[in-house]
Amino acid sequence: MTTTVPVICTIPELRTLVQTLIKDSKMIGVVPTMGALHAGHLSLVSESQRQSDATIVTIFVNPSQFSPTEDLTRYPRDLDSDLEKLAGAGNIFVFAPSAAEMYPTGFSTSMTPPAIAKLLEGEFRPTHFGGVATVVLKLLNLTGAHFAFFGQKDYQQLLVVQRMVEDLNVPTEIRVCPIVREADGLAMSSRNIFLSATEREIALSLNRTLKFVEAEIRDGQRDGYELMVEMRQRLIDGGVTRIDYATIADPHSLESVEAIQLPVVALLAAYVGKTRLIDNKIISPID
Ligand code: PAJ
Repeated sequence: MTTTVPVICTIPELRTLVQTLIKDSKMIGVVPTMGALHAGHLSLVSESQRQSDATIVTIFVNPSQFSPTEDLTRYPRDLDSDLEKLAGAGNIFVFAPSAAEMYPTGFSTSMTPPAIAKLLEGEFRPTHFGGVATVVLKLLNLTGAHFAFFGQKDYQQLLVVQRMVEDLNVPTEIRVCPIVREADGLAMSSRNIFLSATEREIALSLNRTLKFVEAEIRDGQRDGYELMVEMRQRLIDGGVTRIDYATIADPHSLESVEAIQLPVVALLAAYVGKTRLIDNKIISPID
């Protein structure tokens, strides 16, 4: 029989757990998620299990990071199936609070995210990273985690969280995990379930475009702007509905680069039908 994972829904219960873990000198890893777990999330969980004594997986579809026009109500939620995916794994606890638990009546404090939040995603989702930063800070405070695991899949989110933790002296170390992809290259995402069979094919153009960028750069292309124009064209030819951004940027500042000097990061956000997908690739010097 596989062991079920203990689920905690309230902040007092979580505090009790954390106090016990700390009293027992356990290193705590936290994996913040919005649920609808897939192999990408599970890779973060495995990494935390490898690096920590106890892992707290948080499952919370955070309303404050969705704008009123976005897919908060449509966002996939299936706690039972998430728990099944985690069952059998040792030293794991799930924190799955309600929105009222995280944002009780009277809640009125929020984070101004670091400046980097204004670029790229921030141009199209201006309130998004404020919500992410607020909930992540709450989760780091609540779990007292020594390590927090984030995916490169949400590259800008990672930079926002790293900057926030540094600026506010949060004593949690941020650890980065690589992007997990489907066999055909599509980056795993909870939103992929919205794609029809045809859209699923179109969605492959995101990773194909990133691979094209890498190949061009390895081939000696150094004109960032020319490559960015080609990225857009490839996405359009691939059938995407709308492009929010397609850029080659400095991996620290996220400013787009005219003259490519490695490392760079190529980042994309595009709609396939009604579904907004993001993907990225870091292109490092080969030594
Ligand atoms: P969510 O989209 O559920 O992602 C949770 C974590 O899983 C993030 O760190 C994300 O980068 C990582 N992840 C998602 N898809 C991945 C993939 N294909 N490969 C590797 N890692 C992947 O990101 C959020 O939730 C929220 O904004 C959150 C940080 C939980 C705050 O609400």
